[in-house]
Amino acid sequence: MMPVHHVAVAGTSLAVHAAGSGRPLVLLHGFPLDHRMWDRQAVLAEHCHLIAPDLRGFGGSAASVATSVAELADDVAALLAALHVTEPAVVCGLSMGGYVAQHLAVRHPDRVAALVLADTRLEADTPDARAARADLAGKVGRLGPGIVAAAMIPRLLADSDAARGTPHRAAVEEALRRMILEQTVPSIQAALEALGGRPDMTAAMREVRVPTLLVVGAEDAITPPECLERAEEIMPCARLLIVPGAGHMTPLEQPAVFNAAVLEFLRHPPGALGGGGAA
Ligand code: MLT
Repeated sequence: MMPVHHVAVAGTSLAVHAAGSGRPLVLLHGFPLDHRMWDRQAVLAEHCHLIAPDLRGFGGSAASVATSVAELADDVAALLAALHVTEPAVVCGLSMGGYVAQHLAVRHPDRVAALVLADTRLEADTPDARAARADLAGKVGRLGPGIVAAAMIPRLLADSDAARGTPHRAAVEEALRRMILEQTVPSIQAALEALGGRPDMTAAMREVRVPTLLVVGAEDAITPPECLERAEEIMPCARLLIVPGAGHMTPLEQPAVFNAAVLEFLRHPPGALGGGGAA
């Protein structure tokens, strides 16, 4: 568990968990979770300055809700300024956190030295995906966050017999359930709307020339490996790792593999680490 600070940014207050020193590594959580999804990455603080915020409306952050993914990215830029982090950061985001990381690289290139995009995609929602989000938002309003846990947890984790049989499986499921149940209805509904309205980032990410590690679980049912394969094709400085035995939550499901990949990437990025994300 990393120590928590509450930082005033952009008219709200974000809870941020930070530990370690040296090169900043920002960890951006997925939907509808919070910084606790990175608990198994806390060991990375032995190598760098870990900064894991609860995004606007989630976890211990104040109740104001997100209106767009771009706003969440602006919050992260403001947070880094408020924390006096001047060195461009390695920004690692999973799924929704990956969308935020992409917007940060495009909107605030001086903040981003490198990207780790895990279990995410560059493309916008399809009309069907947007309709499914609207449907879920309605159900959350009537039934509470339990309906999101029920709908999402089976799709978040790898479904093979081998993955289901791993010793920490029950603990991972329980941690996810607890995190989802602790999020508020307005923040879940607002995030669903923001996610459904996010733009296609494909053209913008073609121009992002920072070293990028793409990671995806081989059994990811939400953003399958093809999503990251497409990203690898278009991003000039990206390399892809497909992790066996993981679904959509690769850092939780295969923490040793994920952490080793991040450390190796920090030591040997494809291209030199530097500031100024977009070319
Ligand atoms: C996430 O894990 O953050 C979500 O699955 C993202 C999404 O629904 O697009």
